[in-house]
Amino acid sequence: MAQTTPNSSSPKWALITGASAGIGAGFARQLAAQGWSLVLVARRADKLQQVQAAVNDINPVVTCHLVSLDLAEPSATEQLVAFCQTQGVSVDYLVNNAGYGVPGDFEHVDWTTHQAMLQVMLTSVVELCRAFYPSMKTAGYGRIINVSSLAGLTPPTAGHTLYGAVKSFLIKFSHSLHLEAKEHGVHVTALCPGFTYTEFHDVNGTRGMVSQLSKKLWMTADDVVAQGLDAVAHNRPVYVNGWRNKAIASLSKYLPDAVIRFLMRGSIKKFRKR
Ligand SMILES: NC(=O)c1ccc[n+]([C@@H]2O[C@H](COP(=O)([O-])OP(=O)(O)OC[C@H]3O[C@@H](n4cnc5c(N)ncnc54)[C@H](OP(=O)(O)O)[C@@H]3O)[C@@H](O)[C@H]2O)c1
Repeated sequence: MAQTTPNSSSPKWALITGASAGIGAGFARQLAAQGWSLVLVARRADKLQQVQAAVNDINPVVTCHLVSLDLAEPSATEQLVAFCQTQGVSVDYLVNNAGYGVPGDFEHVDWTTHQAMLQVMLTSVVELCRAFYPSMKTAGYGRIINVSSLAGLTPPTAGHTLYGAVKSFLIKFSHSLHLEAKEHGVHVTALCPGFTYTEFHDVNGTRGMVSQLSKKLWMTADDVVAQGLDAVAHNRPVYVNGWRNKAIASLSKYLPDAVIRFLMRGSIKKFRKR
């Protein structure tokens, strides 16, 4: 059985970004059930409070701090590190999960939007790993899950221009850090879900389009999270959720990009939002 918590009687802390909804809220509930105290980060304080109430119901013993913060702010990591220091929180488990999709073609999306996406989904992920990994290494125990996507493993598409690129970056970055960390008791996993029932497609305005997809392609956030927790416990560098997504990832790896794009051309066109 893989070790799921550090060997220590002091509180064990997990910090989860994007914990107010979807996959992040699932991580909060399932890590609380395992006995982890939590630092939950997202912008919407009311939604974070709802997740905190659910966490308290699941495990009244764990402490749950809420940090209402926009990770697009360049000082966000500094603020989180300062918060943890003030509260005496030593982060042993980091889940970089906050994220969203930006539909539209590259030049039609304003630079501020691109910049915020890069800050939230790329820079802040690397910064948070850089901030918390060294103490995990010193302690000889740590868990890091960077929530990427199947989109990081499939060929590029037109539209949502930065999304696949950012998710590919997370996979490569997590795998490198995994290789550096594995001798030090720190497990690092890039988690790659496919279509998952969350607020994601409501936020980016594609719910109408994606609801036409076969239900077989969809997973629940709870299943994605349970598999993610297991994957990092077993120190998998990259984990793709669900056998259908695994099959798509394998085809993308072994078939030429042009063949995959040809096979997917109908759905790519259909689901492209300009
Ligand atoms: N759902 C899918 O089909 C799917 C598939 C593959 C990968 N993913 C990935 O899974 C991760 C979680 O997404 P989800 O599906 O759970 O979507 P979701 O239900 O929309 O949740 C996204 C979370 O990110 C937070 N967030 C967004 N922008 C933020 C910002 N600027 N600062 C702080 N927090 C921010 C949101 O909180 P606030 O709005 O309260 O700030 C929310 O808690 C993302 O990285 C996404 O790319 C999702």
